[in-house]
Amino acid sequence: MLDSIKKIFSGSEEDRPISTTGKPDIVRAKSAELYEKAKNYFPGGVNSPVRAFKSVYGTPLFIQKGDGCFVWDADGNQFIDFCCSWGPLILGHNNAKIREKVTEVMQQGMSFGAPTALENDLADLILKNNKNIEKIRFTSSGTEAVMSAIRLARGYTKRDKILKFEGCYHGHVDALLVKAGSGLVTFGETSSAGIPKSFADETIVISLNDTNALTEAFEQFKDQIAAVIIEGVPANNGLLIQDKEFVQFLRKICTDNKTLLIFDEVITGFRLGFEGAAKYYDVKADILTYGKVIGGGLPVGAYGASKEIMSNISPEGPVYQAGTLSGNPVAMAAGIAQLTELLRSGFYKDLNKKAQEFVESIQRFAAARSYKFKVFSIGSIFWFAFTDKDSIKTSEEIDASSMEKFKVMHRELLNRGVYLGPSGYEVGFVSAAHTKIELEKAKRAIFDSLDIVFSNRN
Ligand SMILES: Cc1ncc(COP(=O)(O)O)c(C=O)c1O
Repeated sequence: MLDSIKKIFSGSEEDRPISTTGKPDIVRAKSAELYEKAKNYFPGGVNSPVRAFKSVYGTPLFIQKGDGCFVWDADGNQFIDFCCSWGPLILGHNNAKIREKVTEVMQQGMSFGAPTALENDLADLILKNNKNIEKIRFTSSGTEAVMSAIRLARGYTKRDKILKFEGCYHGHVDALLVKAGSGLVTFGETSSAGIPKSFADETIVISLNDTNALTEAFEQFKDQIAAVIIEGVPANNGLLIQDKEFVQFLRKICTDNKTLLIFDEVITGFRLGFEGAAKYYDVKADILTYGKVIGGGLPVGAYGASKEIMSNISPEGPVYQAGTLSGNPVAMAAGIAQLTELLRSGFYKDLNKKAQEFVESIQRFAAARSYKFKVFSIGSIFWFAFTDKDSIKTSEEIDASSMEKFKVMHRELLNRGVYLGPSGYEVGFVSAAHTKIELEKAKRAIFDSLDIVFSNRN
């Protein structure tokens, strides 16, 4: 998403002709026609910026249907999908259990604006199996969850400043659409028009994985920082897997300074395991935010914390937060059906093993040919990086010029029936619906595409 923001506001990208290297380009006539029409309705023809394909070749594909690990576009092209709706679809598309539960619940009506038993059921499933939180509040998106978590932290600590990390994305929350200025510890500069400078002035931005910067920030802003927010595993600007020691240091410095630690687990929650990155790092965050997987493909976000912290939320406490469609029964039904599957014994072990074999085999291929290419991965999340670095932990380490290679790879993969999110900064997801057969097919497409990227034919 960060990439999308940069591109949209810089306006530097224009459509480029689709190259005819490698395989013939897929037919996109219907998608192109729909895109032209959509441009009359929506800014940039889309309802979320990264969908506009500004960072890759060609017009966006309009998706007609999905089933298992496949999607089909409006022209009838079939793809093995690793975007998975940007993460929610851990069981793949059109999962029968989710579909049945949702359609059953829909027969009873679709929204009441009053409590339903389904909210209790989803909360019960989560709270019994996720030791990180004692109470939860459902929202309709990850952005809303993060925005509310920030307000809760400010209300609870009675402090105003927030510390975030360069390269982490937390939704389009005003206070968090900020990027670092120059210097070790800086106030953020807004990364979107329309955000008052005074909002950004409350946000401190530092580099990831940097204990010195963290220490300096806490010295400089002693007793002023309400919360530090970090993605469970930063996965919106490449996959920036943090050292365990750094995350544990972060926990300690927050505790020492009575600052709340917010783990934004919108991507990693219920994805790396049922207890997300918190379990992976063995770190107890004070507030956790969720989205994506929690809603089984329907719009659900959530935030949770201890009973004591959550007691500050209205109507119990003074921190106001509400939502017409919060806890919507149809969305709750999808979440219940999906999370029930995830709790089956061996689910994550099998998924993560499958994903690991997939990425290792791609890595072996690239290494054997000495391609400057790495696959970084954790659980079922992976990121293709055109680099020879063995690890990348900060956004500053990403070579922006390497995105040209991703563009070629993306086009070649589409031509071979593999769909990745249309930006080299975005991660991919393996779902339970990706069978060994499809992963083998996808691997072959990836190998061929890499050969083209690293040949002179593009
Ligand atoms: C880590 C993280 N937090 C928050 C959000 C915002 O979630 P939503 O798009 O549901 O508003 C995202 C979305 O990609 C995300 O990746």
